[in-house]
Amino acid sequence: NYYAILMAGGVGSRFWPVSTQDFPKQFHDMLGTGDTLIQKTFHRLADLIPKENIFILTNEQYNDLVLEQLPEVEQRQVVLEPAMRNTAPCILYASLKIQKENPDAVMIVAPSDHWIEDEKTFASNVQQAFEYCSENDALMTLGIQPTFPNTGYGYIEFDKSSAKAIKSVNQFREKPDYETAKDFISKGNFLWNAGIFMWSAKSVVKAFKSNQPELFELFEKGISVYNTEFEDDFIRDNYPKAENISVDYAIMEKSTNVHVIAAEFDWNDLGTWGSLYDKLDKDEANNAVVNARTLAEDASGNMIRTKKDKIVVIDGLQDYIVVDKEEVLLIFPKSKEQDIKKTLQQVKDKF
Ligand code: GDD
Ligand code: MG
Repeated sequence: NYYAILMAGGVGSRFWPVSTQDFPKQFHDMLGTGDTLIQKTFHRLADLIPKENIFILTNEQYNDLVLEQLPEVEQRQVVLEPAMRNTAPCILYASLKIQKENPDAVMIVAPSDHWIEDEKTFASNVQQAFEYCSENDALMTLGIQPTFPNTGYGYIEFDKSSAKAIKSVNQFREKPDYETAKDFISKGNFLWNAGIFMWSAKSVVKAFKSNQPELFELFEKGISVYNTEFEDDFIRDNYPKAENISVDYAIMEKSTNVHVIAAEFDWNDLGTWGSLYDKLDKDEANNAVVNARTLAEDASGNMIRTKKDKIVVIDGLQDYIVVDKEEVLLIFPKSKEQDIKKTLQQVKDKF
């Protein structure tokens, strides 16, 4: 009864110029290991879940990329979105499809672009969640010990009094402002939301029904055609009508049956070049290098990526991102990495 929904529809604009609208980061070998991020994620899940029960949710423009990179996946497992509407619509839609196929389904919903090293511990945490969600009406999250007031994450306040591994959640708060995030962290019983969810199809559909009645109605209307040849037409007409909202705001903040397991594995959401730098092995001067061959003098803390075997000579450069990709060369301070999204827009406007 185990299923997976792999979300692979994001654009990853802070990883420009490697990640682009036509070829987003999840389809790149960001770590330089030979596997793309989506391949890594798929194989991590395939250890836990029958391959044929893993669904990839993505924009229709990435259909070919998915099939190319995951040859073990059939077209029926690639759920295509004709418009970008963030994570709530695609999760509800896929959950209804899965529920129709198997009313007792229990699933994991996972991003396709995260870094998780300890796969065994990941598997045991997910297994634990699956067992709980098979028996209980629960929305399960994986919590990460926070290290600083990151305003790009969701925060999970868990019940302090519970000594159990699975704790009930008092409050789920998506992307609080800086002051609030600081306050949360100082309290000690807040975790970051890893963005990985586990629940039964029944529970997630119920959560949408009570918290997002309009969205629910929109997708429920099509239930009779899901998993049939008439599905595409229905989705093409109706999907674009869905509200643009993430699952965090749509149901997690509003539900009272949220639970959390404190993740025991090392996690990173690989959102920026700096987070990638942190996870990669470094050379003697503390530079992270993907694909390039470097000659470095008085150069440390840099994140360097080029095409295979390109020779890069650097002298007197600290804490920079240097990314070379065909028509674009980016040389950008790591401390300003969040601005790359903005810069990309300026580049598009100018050229
Ligand atoms: N299929 C599909 N369609 N996938 C999407 C879409 C979409 O329209 N939009 C985003 N995704 C995918 C992204 O590719 C990513 O893998 C995942 O869904 C999460 O989207 P993000 O846009 O990266 O979310 P976020 O980082 O702002 O916040 C989420 O993740 C954080 C942890 O990384 C939230 O769940 C936060 O609470 C959480 O802390
Ligand atoms: Mg993210």
